[in-house]
Amino acid sequence: MSYDKGVPPHGGMLVDLMVDEARSNLLKEIAQELPDVVLNDRQLCEFELLATGTYSPLSGYMNRSDYESVVDRMRLQDGLLWPLPVCLDVHDSQAGKLEVGQSLAIRDPEGFMLGVLHVEDVWQVDYDKEICKLYGNDVPDDLTKTFYLRGQGDHYVGGKLEVISLPLHFEFKQLRMTPQEIRTIYRKLGWQRVIGFLCRQLVHRPQFEMTIKAMRTVKGNLLLLPISGVSKPGDIDFYTRIKCYRTLSRYYPPDSSVMNLLPYDHVGEGVREDLLKAIIAKNYGCTHCLMDNGRRIEEGGRDSHLKRDSGDDWDMGRKLLDEIGVRLIPFEEMVYLPFEDAYSGLDQIIDGMRTVDVSNEQIQKRIRSGRRVPEWASFPEVVAELQKTYLPPQKQGFTVFLTGLSGAGKSTVAKILYSRFLEIGGRPVTLLDGDIVRRNLSSELSFSKEHRDINVRRIGFVASEITKNRGIAICAPIAPYQETRREIRAGIEAWGGFIEVHISTPIEVCEKRDRKGMYAKARVGLIKGFTGVDDPYEVPEFPEVSIDTTGLTPDEAVQEILLFLGQKSYLS
Ligand code: PPS
Repeated sequence: MSYDKGVPPHGGMLVDLMVDEARSNLLKEIAQELPDVVLNDRQLCEFELLATGTYSPLSGYMNRSDYESVVDRMRLQDGLLWPLPVCLDVHDSQAGKLEVGQSLAIRDPEGFMLGVLHVEDVWQVDYDKEICKLYGNDVPDDLTKTFYLRGQGDHYVGGKLEVISLPLHFEFKQLRMTPQEIRTIYRKLGWQRVIGFLCRQLVHRPQFEMTIKAMRTVKGNLLLLPISGVSKPGDIDFYTRIKCYRTLSRYYPPDSSVMNLLPYDHVGEGVREDLLKAIIAKNYGCTHCLMDNGRRIEEGGRDSHLKRDSGDDWDMGRKLLDEIGVRLIPFEEMVYLPFEDAYSGLDQIIDGMRTVDVSNEQIQKRIRSGRRVPEWASFPEVVAELQKTYLPPQKQGFTVFLTGLSGAGKSTVAKILYSRFLEIGGRPVTLLDGDIVRRNLSSELSFSKEHRDINVRRIGFVASEITKNRGIAICAPIAPYQETRREIRAGIEAWGGFIEVHISTPIEVCEKRDRKGMYAKARVGLIKGFTGVDDPYEVPEFPEVSIDTTGLTPDEAVQEILLFLGQKSYLS
């Protein structure tokens, strides 16, 4: 391939869907009469990829025949390779009123107009079929239908797009260039070979060394493309992540790397996603593509944790990658050689060599627990950036989440804890007792599963805000469902400590106490769906602390929690 004129975009044409000022003014005028479609965060990402030409040669959302062709055989109707559908989903109620030939005003959640879609097709989606075709029958847990859909409507609308404005971003504006703008930079800098690195994880020393090795092997430069789609609970804070990349990029030799944010929001991690990432890299003018899971295609998908794709799929993936024309660089595991003070690929290690390695997760855990991160593991400036967000335990906010049956002793323990934290001082303390929340935040809710989940999620949300702002939240709902508690934990641990305390007092004891007389009423059927009587309580699997208050005074129970917090350095 000759790189003189740069890498040709996928399908031969880099599209630009932005209209000129005159057309934009006309469209804005017409739009007053058009029905609106308001995009959610996921849809905004897709819109931006279309609008900037990152999804070239697509010039809008796929129509039905392209969609079916892509789902069935990974190709558009004209035969061009395309692995995943790019369709606009709308809800039933809106789809019913749409007609082929009409136009829609595309808006962001604030009502700001982004563009006009000229409808070519509207059809009902069979998501079960779609998921099955895209990912096979063996859909893994992280790709359940609910997660996959994420509020998706049940109809797809296809058609050409005219873009008036890109989605508004108020942060990292210099890192939001179109493929065309990025290609101009290559030309200016005289770059011939470019490695596109689509990264979701932070780049510490091992990954940095790997990129340097790849740049030397290929004799190329680096386009760092941090994926900036919608964050999921438990993800590292977006701003911190990008600031870390920015700090890191200073470690590359001058004019050898460029960084740009990629608003990509696909949830799956199979061959189809990898091929799409390769197309994106190609459109950004990359000759090579570095993916954190690229080894899967290289190795024909024999990786055990990727069972969902059959070996055949991966073989096919490799061939298709050749067709796209981007060379894949698999993610190489790097280890540190302490005697040599150097990094090496794991594959080059010979028996007897002493090596050390560290995962991103371990680095993050070290930072969270206030421990030192050695310089061979990460760059001091990157660590400092992370430490600004992830403070050591004694400076972090945290949530003590007491869960257990009615009458188990949650409220009493919570109240004493509240006083003890105030006495210790240093952080603002908020008590979110079940009763207080039911009165003030959730007065309209019942005790159905759905309403209990809403109630507990609200508590979790408030607690995560308190934790984020370095306060202490004490929550004391029954919170009977494991999955909801797990969700809340993930949301709070992104910001600080989450200490789940199971008040495990057995039901016989709770029932004997029956201070509110509710068990008696539940037993005779006057209260329906009472936890522990005719509604389930799912016992926490791995609580940080478990306390049976049967033979303990409330002060002793509180002491157990304080001892745990002290041991984990939250109180020092
Ligand atoms: S939940 O499941 O977490 O939403 O429950 P929570 O908000 O903590 O509310 C529990 C208190 O409400 C009273 N109550 C019931 N509990 C369980 N099941 C049913 N059906 C029910 N109806 C009313 C009960 O007194 C709980 O108070 P505590 O303080 O836990 O004893």
